[in-house]
Formats: sequence, structure tokens, C-alpha cells
Amino acid sequence: MSSDSRFAGSIPQVYDTVLVPMMFLDYADDVASAVAAGTPHDVLEIAAGTGAVTRALHRLLPTVEITATDLNPPMLDRAAEMLPPSDRVRWLLADAQDLPCEDGTFDAVMCQFGVMFFPDRPRAYAEAHRVLRPGGRFVIASWGRIEDNEAALAVEEALATLFPDDPPRFLRRTPFGYTDLDLVRVELEGAGFTSVDARWVEHRSRPTSAQDIAVAHCQGTPIANLLAERGVDPAHATAEMARVLEDRLGPEPFSGRLSASIVVATHA
Ligand SMILES: C[S@@+](CC[C@H](N)C(=O)[O-])C[C@H]1O[C@@H](n2cnc3c(N)ncnc32)[C@H](O)[C@@H]1O
Repeated sequence: MSSDSRFAGSIPQVYDTVLVPMMFLDYADDVASAVAAGTPHDVLEIAAGTGAVTRALHRLLPTVEITATDLNPPMLDRAAEMLPPSDRVRWLLADAQDLPCEDGTFDAVMCQFGVMFFPDRPRAYAEAHRVLRPGGRFVIASWGRIEDNEAALAVEEALATLFPDDPPRFLRRTPFGYTDLDLVRVELEGAGFTSVDARWVEHRSRPTSAQDIAVAHCQGTPIANLLAERGVDPAHATAEMARVLEDRLGPEPFSGRLSASIVVATHA
């Protein structure tokens, strides 16, 4: 597994407690609502992470059954801890590119901020198509350009200040690196989906201190892996980034523009 896709160590807990509340919750409601609009009974979630969307859909549809999958065991462990025990949710380790599920098992497949991490995304889309029943919906959320996501852009610029010779490019390369909706359509249609509906949705990040933005990114994303590979102490990197971010964003809690696509693709 590449270090961009490894969510372990400090990442699951910091991701879930700092990054998700800052940037992910409004989109989790959007994805859950788009899934719920199809009144599904059996839902598969891929790249479920620490379960932000799992929890949103579980709240929204009182009888839905969710199979929530992810590649990294520590993310699913955290997700299971955060949802009260429920016989309507099953947690399953799975690579989205090779799903351990029968053909035609689900009414909907959902994936929030995960598809950018799949090395062979067309294969993951073909897998989503395979496990859906005819008429089923595949709902995807994916970040827009980093220039349209102010907190992420500030973090990227802070990393460029701190590592001028060779800044870690994780954000631009991976989570904010899949922003061409024409390509999304081509890949989904290539996997057999029809009537691909894609739209941009904007929200604002929740007000967050420079310190917490730095904690979220240096300790709650795979940037932590890239810092570790360079032998950089995470606490030191966090403090340095907080200082640079505060210079740029000011001392008050920062709330910035968020932009992501929500895509609903239908199984013919
Ligand atoms: C940014 S997180 C999104 C998690 C969650 N959907 C959310 O909205 O909080 C990306 C997730 O993709 C997962 N992931 C990366 N590569 C994967 C793969 N090939 N198959 C399944 N999950 C993968 C990671 O483990 C991580 O949990």
C-alpha cells in the first residue's frame, strides 16, 4: 500500500475528531441524502474510513442495512467504536478494487472522499457496478480543486514554506487530484453506469484554530506518513505549521470555502 493510502498510527483518531468535524460533515449529510433518495434497503459503503457517512445514513434511514468497508483496519476499528452497536451495520475489510461481495447484492453503493485513493479507479467502479442491483445508485463525493478549498490550500502553502526544497504534495496529488467531471463521467460510463449526474457543492469549513488545522493535517492525514519518512517529529511539524498558518489566516478560528463534487450514477 502506498503511503498516500495508509491511514494508521495517529491518523484514525485525529482524522475522526479534528478533520472530519472541520470539513466532512456537511458532505456526509449530502451523500446520505442522495443515497436515501433512492429508498435503498441494502447499502454498501466503500472507503468508509471512520464512518462519517455510515453514521449519517444510519440516522437518516431507520431500516437500512449497511455493509461498511475500508482497506485500513484502524479506520474501521475507529468507525465501529463511534457507532452504537447496531445489527444494521456490518464492518468489513475490503479493497474497493476487489470487493468480497456477490454480484447484484446492493441497492446503493456510496463513497465519500475515497475514490481519489484508488490506484485503479476504473476497476473499483466496475466492482461497484457488479455488486449493484439493476436500477441501483452509486453516490460519490470527491474534492474539487485545491484552489477552491481554502484550508487545504493554506496547508499546502504552509508545507511549501516549511519544506521549500521538496514540499510534500500529498493534498494536490491525491485528495484534491481528481477534479475533472468529464473524466469522472467517462470512467463511470466505461464501468457500465448510465445517467451520470454530477454537480459541484460548496460548503464552509467549521471555524477551526490554526493549531487544530495543523494537528488535523500533520497527524490526521497521510501527510503524517510523509513527515515520518523524512524523520520529522510530528509535534514539531505541527507547531511549525500552526505558526505559519496563524501568520496567514490570523488568530481567530478560520472558516473557509469548501468545494466538492457529488456524483450519482445509475446502474442500467
Ligand atoms: C479521506 S478518507 C475518507 C473516509 C470516509 N469515507 C470519510 O468520508 O471520512 C479515505 C479512505 O479511503 C480508504 N482507502 C484508500 N484506498 C482504499 C482502497 N483501495 N480500498 C478501500 N478503501 C481505501 C482509506 O483507508 C481511508 O479510510
